[in-house]
Amino acid sequence: KPDVNTKETIMETFPGIEKLILDCKRCDLHKTVTNKVISKGSTHPKVVFIGEAPGKNEDETGIPFCGRAGKLLDKMIDYMKLKEEDWAVINTIKCRPPENRTPTVKEIEICRPFLTAQLNLMNPAVIILLGNTAEKAFGESAGWGEVKKTKDGKNILKIFHPAAMIYKREREQEQYAFLDKYKYLWAD
Ligand code: URA
Repeated sequence: KPDVNTKETIMETFPGIEKLILDCKRCDLHKTVTNKVISKGSTHPKVVFIGEAPGKNEDETGIPFCGRAGKLLDKMIDYMKLKEEDWAVINTIKCRPPENRTPTVKEIEICRPFLTAQLNLMNPAVIILLGNTAEKAFGESAGWGEVKKTKDGKNILKIFHPAAMIYKREREQEQYAFLDKYKYLWAD
């Protein structure tokens, strides 16, 4: 009888991934968090958005993109006309870095198996990288506003992180132009 409690097997189910994330002490970030932040949305989405890391609101609630940047992401999802079952949101790392600093390369690497396991299970047709950290964690993209097809046929699109639109308002127009250009990727 196979050992069902190996890490490999646990990583093949959502509750298994969640347990490993909640138990994870592989970097120091777990020491300062209130809640680890795992995912939001559908378990089998057409589109997965990858953000950066939990912020203050997310750390308090355990829900990704529930603060100011989340409102802008919600607006994008509405604009894209995605149905509830068509999208999910995850982050490159699951713990809030102190003072919301950018995750380090080491933190991204340590957390990457969780990101990979989530993507494998969700198996989306489109992966939207929200900014540079998501691109670094995912490992490939064609650059801002460009689509790259992976070997396994997924479309990877890198666009602005919603928070980047808060700091530079003119990016909003560019962001929505990207979404217009690629809407065929997630249209019914
Ligand atoms: N910014 C992110 O990258 N992720 C969140 O969950 C919230 C804000």
